[in-house]
Amino acid sequence: MTVWLLAGIVAADPVPLPAGEGKKILESACTSCHALDLVTDKNWTRQQWQDNIQEMVDLGASLTKKQTDDLVDYLVKNFGPKDRAQELFEDVCSYCHSLGRARDQHLTKQQWRDLIKGMIFEGPPVTAEEFSLLVDYLATNFGPEKEE
Ligand code: HEC
Ligand code: HEC
Repeated sequence: MTVWLLAGIVAADPVPLPAGEGKKILESACTSCHALDLVTDKNWTRQQWQDNIQEMVDLGASLTKKQTDDLVDYLVKNFGPKDRAQELFEDVCSYCHSLGRARDQHLTKQQWRDLIKGMIFEGPPVTAEEFSLLVDYLATNFGPEKEE
């Protein structure tokens, strides 16, 4: 073991946080009780982050409603499930009917966008970013048949 190697480890930066509204909130509200690597090593869904933040607030973390919403968006975006698009598809598109409904279709991106736009409005809340992930996922997996 060499000294410079050890020095490198000791001097390593704390987990770098991606830029965004949530970064400031994490740094101000989430560092008093534990290190942030507890947060950054997760790949959690929106529901899991919401439950976690609620738990942290119950333990004493201090967040406004707006900060909570911003933080959850930030965490899902940066520390969300590895394949968010698929996860979204399975969550959102099975809410009212089976996923088979989608799997039977062969639509273009534009057709998918138009079809789900009206449909998912009554379902679980979907952000604009999640909406476009869903459209991409659908067009990639259930796109037009090749012979066209
Ligand atoms: C008042 C103290 C406190 C504050 C402030 C706090 N936490 Fe925690 N947190 C805890 C405790 C206690 C645990 C559980 C013990 C542990 O795992 O070390 C924990 C654990 C966690 C875990 C791991 C949970 C698991 O199941 O692996 C995450 C993720 C987390 N906190 C996120 C946050 C976030 C995000 C914030 C800022 C909104 C925050 N914490 C602020 C006390 C706090
Ligand atoms: C809030 C409820 C709701 C959600 C969420 C929802 N759907 Fe639907 N979906 C419907 C209803 C209602 C119909 C049409 C009524 C019927 O035929 O049962 C439908 C029909 C469909 C059809 C058949 C359309 C046709 O022309 O035959 C497809 C494909 C479809 N949905 C895909 C999806 C996809 C993909 C998602 C996720 C992005 C999704 N749905 C999410 C309610 C929903």
